[in-house]
Amino acid sequence: MALSILIRPAEQKDCESLAALENECFPDPSWKSNDFLVYDCLVAEVEGTLAGFVVSRQTFAGSLDALPEREILNLAVTARFRRMGIATLLLKHERERGGDLFLEVRESNAAARILYQKFGFEKISRRNAYYQNPEESGIVMQLKW
Ligand SMILES: CC(C)(COP(=O)(O)OP(=O)(O)OC[C@H]1O[C@@H](n2cnc3c(N)ncnc32)[C@H](O)[C@@H]1OP(=O)(O)O)[C@@H](O)C(=O)NCCC(=O)NCCS
Repeated sequence: MALSILIRPAEQKDCESLAALENECFPDPSWKSNDFLVYDCLVAEVEGTLAGFVVSRQTFAGSLDALPEREILNLAVTARFRRMGIATLLLKHERERGGDLFLEVRESNAAARILYQKFGFEKISRRNAYYQNPEESGIVMQLKW
């Protein structure tokens, strides 16, 4: 049976679950429960469980001759619901906001890099020692509108 996935904006009631998901998904979690609603955060709900999230912000509103730009700041899916298309669905909703999308990803994060590449993001640069704990380069990727 196909999974029923609800994508909706995050609310105050989600903040503790978002922080728990951050702690589960990253070896060096840096986002606290109060951080998520500072930006635009969408959650994926499966069977009443918060299964994933994406956080983004607008970095440029656009002009007469330039498209708006957004940056994806954070994305994660709980281990139990991975490889079911949830991150892809969250990215589709992000893309619907319009404009060009940018993100940074750890060079060693093969799963995320494959996901982004498959979705259509292209590598545009590499930032040496962009991440700490452990120190690692960041790959900057862009999805053109
Ligand atoms: C990266 C992550 C968000 C992917 O979430 P997901 O819901 O499993 O991704 P999807 O199901 O949409 O995957 C889409 C495609 O991406 C690729 N992909 C995803 N995870 C992969 C993995 N572990 N290994 C290889 N390819 C992978 C596959 O091509 C996959 O398609 P397929 O399952 O049909 O082969 C999830 O693994 C995660 O939360 N990781 C820890 C946190 C993290 O690294 N976040 C990104 C920070 S930049």
